[in-house]
Amino acid sequence: MTKSLTITRPDDWHLHLRDGAMLRAILPETARHFARAIIMPNLMPPVVTGAQALAYRDRILAALPAGMSFEPLMTLYLTEDSNTEDIAAAHANGLIKAVKLYPAGATTNSASGVSDFSKVFGILEKMAEIGLPLCVHGEVTDHNIDIFDREAIFIDRVLEPIRSSIPELRIIMEHITTSDGVDYVRENEANLAATITTHHLIINRNHILVGGIKPHYYCLPVAKREEHRLALRIAATSGDNRFFLGTDSAPHVDTLKENACGCAGCFTASNTMALLAHVFEEDQSLNHLEAFASQNGPAFYGMPLNNDTITLTKSDTPTNFPSKIYAGEEKVTVFDPGFPVYWSVT
Ligand code: NCD
Ligand code: ZN
Repeated sequence: MTKSLTITRPDDWHLHLRDGAMLRAILPETARHFARAIIMPNLMPPVVTGAQALAYRDRILAALPAGMSFEPLMTLYLTEDSNTEDIAAAHANGLIKAVKLYPAGATTNSASGVSDFSKVFGILEKMAEIGLPLCVHGEVTDHNIDIFDREAIFIDRVLEPIRSSIPELRIIMEHITTSDGVDYVRENEANLAATITTHHLIINRNHILVGGIKPHYYCLPVAKREEHRLALRIAATSGDNRFFLGTDSAPHVDTLKENACGCAGCFTASNTMALLAHVFEEDQSLNHLEAFASQNGPAFYGMPLNNDTITLTKSDTPTNFPSKIYAGEEKVTVFDPGFPVYWSVT
């Protein structure tokens, strides 16, 4: 029995596209299904200025295969030395759609991030005034704080003080991984939303650690206990417009993942939509997939919905996703959910 579902073409509200050969290899994986994506600025060196964002945007568009369309929604990487006028100008001319806050040291290429949040308060006030949203990697980086507690403590120590001082600032808590994140978004009526990744709806920390360490399930923020995964499932599949898809698809070559000090990141761009159809069907919520993947994000960012559609089809036999994508000679492993998936984008 085949079953199909047609939805407004989705967008990805948190994506790592990298640069060079990796960019060329992975961009089609996103552009095949998604119309737009919020592009993370954590390159080496990071995308800090409007000029750097413009140049990166040109490299992305140059890497897009002929015949494909895709709109990269650029962001700037916030540092303690960021220039308020440059950020405001990049927003005014339509180049950037958000600014990204990485606590220094929180994740891949975040060394230039913020240590002293008081140093960026003036910029955040300006962003609130001009209506430029802040995307937040919500983990504290204090060495004394257990990695599994870093999101909850970030909410208390960093996010709540920012929100109470600058309530008009529109904030996206990116890739939330805990029920604390879900509850915090639910308690706040305005100017706060969260993205949820595909992989955090599927794996908990046992998947990473039980029966041998699984480097391809290691990402940041790290997957938490099962109760947290279930809270994310309820939030994502509820239709609540404060929760939407940000895949955080973050490719690293296999040699750097399968390594004594393996990089964080799951690469989900290729099969995300099929996996989401599986998840939403399992939770009897296929009717809310369009809200999560295609409607709630544009609504929060104040952008129009895409005017074309994609169709997801469920067949009797499992879908064969590619297990690797090749970036030159190097391989990138596609996220394996660990169960058969019968959905595909047709
Ligand atoms: C991201 C990356 O590799 O750039 N890794 C990850 O595990 N998600 C960085 C990030 O978004 O934290
Ligand atoms: Zn990310």
